[in-house]
Amino acid sequence: MVTNKKAYTRFSASDRMEHFVLIISFTMLGVTGLPQRYGEFELAKQLIDLLGGIESVRVMHRFFAVMLMAVSIYHGGAVSYKLFVRRVRLSMIPSLTDLRHAWQYFLYNLGLRKEHPKMPRFNFGEKAEYLAVVWGTILMVITGFMLWNPVVTARYISGEVIPAARAAHSAEAFLAIAAIVIWHMYNVHIKRFNRAIFTGKISHEAMEEEHALELEDIEQGRVYQPPPVEVMLKRQQVFTVYAAMMTAILAGGLVYFVSLEDTAIETVPRQSFEQINDIDVTKGNATLGEIVWLEQNCHSCHGETGEGVYPVLPLAQTTSDPQAFAIAIRRGPADMPGYPVNQISDEEIAHLYVWLQSLD
Ligand code: HEC
Repeated sequence: MVTNKKAYTRFSASDRMEHFVLIISFTMLGVTGLPQRYGEFELAKQLIDLLGGIESVRVMHRFFAVMLMAVSIYHGGAVSYKLFVRRVRLSMIPSLTDLRHAWQYFLYNLGLRKEHPKMPRFNFGEKAEYLAVVWGTILMVITGFMLWNPVVTARYISGEVIPAARAAHSAEAFLAIAAIVIWHMYNVHIKRFNRAIFTGKISHEAMEEEHALELEDIEQGRVYQPPPVEVMLKRQQVFTVYAAMMTAILAGGLVYFVSLEDTAIETVPRQSFEQINDIDVTKGNATLGEIVWLEQNCHSCHGETGEGVYPVLPLAQTTSDPQAFAIAIRRGPADMPGYPVNQISDEEIAHLYVWLQSLD
């Protein structure tokens, strides 16, 4: 067989740019999202530390979510341009033919057919993957909105949807990452290393193998003919107005999404993955407790002798049990910072507790 060196253009610069932004945002959403989902695992804790702690991971997750939403808006514009200005057929829309191709391919894989079906510009697998990205993104944006703006969501729908949104957000993330790592990587990079999304070009062999119907169309001259320049210009003018309006509306929506409330970042108590050990108060020493209190600056909020500085409640003669006391110090409720073991040891917590109890 003579190999044909001819290459065909498959993706425009705009398509490739979209895909590139998608790679970055998707990957980083996974990197900053998975350790939040699997926070109890050592690896997740290490990754969170590496990324500067849980607060920074959560802010990064939001940053890349905005990037994904922005590229999705751009994608909507690019598709609209193809539809309204160039008036090309939307080659990503699934049809019954795709179902037939999938079935024929299945038989071929089982050895029940000699040849696999000839497929169009986007074959059934690619269409399915595209739809998964579209629907997955819509789901993530809706559930992400609820998690980002829980107070508003609870006001208009019901507080119960927030844990449900979290479960769906997390499950869809897992599904999407598994699909990319297993399905996409295999089909696009392992079965045949397809660089088309980076170079824009596809080889003749790959066209024969994966898009034989499109190749036939090209070879027989059945290709897209752009309309006369005047027509094109006219359509572009209309489109510019439409695109400017849509961009304004959607960008406004994005700003609304991001700035509606800061609850999720500001007031959820800091989760500390520090293990909280049992506190042995019998080893506590009141004198040392007072020193720790002053050294660690507890007095700046709770007062010199734990009397409380408004609006912080007094701690002297605390009625909480030593364990709850330790949890409060490790986690840090409300505006109080959490203190990890390397900053305040378990013994020092015992000293603090005994000192506060000894006060009158
Ligand atoms: C930045 C101010 C601030 C600092 C510094 C601070 N705290 Fe707090 N602490 C608070 C706030 C706010 C609360 C929430 C409850 C309240 O309003 O009293 C709190 C709550 C607590 C509680 C739980 C009280 C309870 O019964 O619910 C404990 C225990 C505590 N702090 C101990 C400490 C110790 C020990 C230190 C020093 C290592 C410290 N705090 C440093 C602001 C602070």
